Amino acid sequence: MRTLIILLSLSLSLPAPAETVKKQATTVIEVWTRAPGDHSAGGVQKLHRARVDVRSLKPTEKKLFDLQYQKKLGMKVVPLRAVLDKADTRRGDTLLLHFENGMIIPLPNDPAVLDKVDAHIAIDVRAPDASWRKELPYAIRHDDVTVDPAPIVFGQNKVVVEKGFLPGLIAESGEYFTPWRHCDSLTGIEVVDGNAYRSQYEVLGQASAAAKHGAKVFVSACMYCHSVRDVGATYGWDFMLPYPLHEHKKPRALYEHVTVEKALAADKGLMMPTQHNIQKRDVAGLQAWSKEVHQAGASPNYQPKR
Ligand code: HEC
Repeated sequence: MRTLIILLSLSLSLPAPAETVKKQATTVIEVWTRAPGDHSAGGVQKLHRARVDVRSLKPTEKKLFDLQYQKKLGMKVVPLRAVLDKADTRRGDTLLLHFENGMIIPLPNDPAVLDKVDAHIAIDVRAPDASWRKELPYAIRHDDVTVDPAPIVFGQNKVVVEKGFLPGLIAESGEYFTPWRHCDSLTGIEVVDGNAYRSQYEVLGQASAAAKHGAKVFVSACMYCHSVRDVGATYGWDFMLPYPLHEHKKPRALYEHVTVEKALAADKGLMMPTQHNIQKRDVAGLQAWSKEVHQAGASPNYQPKR
């Protein structure tokens, strides 16, 4: 009995180091088209579903620079476009990359742009002893700490991009912040009509100019990680449920939360990156938007053009 208590208290006081936590994502990526309608119930309705196993696409060995590892590594990779070629992605101009940590990264469904982004999916990595490993190393998010208590841990795949470039991002160069730095393993690719997708985040009915601006800020700076009424990414928490953003943080607190690096953020394992380029006007927009979305009581349905 005593050993049991000691064992129990040991296991309670010693959380497993993040890098040993097993991730679920496989090398199989699900590809589907978003069904029209109300997605606020949380679940995403899927049409034209397909499953593509990256491993079955004959990965090639490449030495690539990776933004998250901040170095060149030998990897077995498949271009993202090769995965898309294996599925039916015709029914929308935008691809939503879904990640295991709940992030969503939208990409234009346009060959020229996809070539510019030049994303690969890595499934094996070359270890220092030159052998191939299925266990992808974890990535630290802060260059300035020796130990990152919350590193990014990958399952059986990781997206490899060299630059922070992402169309639609508030600063497209990715100079201040890029979602590519924070995603983990790719689990799915959802085909959507981009305008209809973004419209789900607008105010249902009349909106003030400030709120319209706020909606733009949301989709170009926050949507990668946060949702509204259960629609969208689940890495950070929802901006309406259980209570709306503007009630949770007053303008000044929100501005500081977004733009000022928190003391010891890395050591505390805080996950939200600072975005220095967000202006006071953007935060005022987010506040007005949050109030009006809340007052409307519901959000627009997803209504694709075709
Ligand atoms: C890369 C992902 C990511 C992006 C982009 C992001 N957030 Fe977050 N956010 C998080 C996570 C994760 C948390 C949970 C707290 C933590 O670990 O930092 C969070 C927490 C928050 C909180 C709650 C903070 C608290 O202390 O209660 C607010 C408010 C917030 N985010 C606002 C925003 C706004 C506004 C934007 C866009 C300008 C944004 N976030 C963009 C990941 C993100």
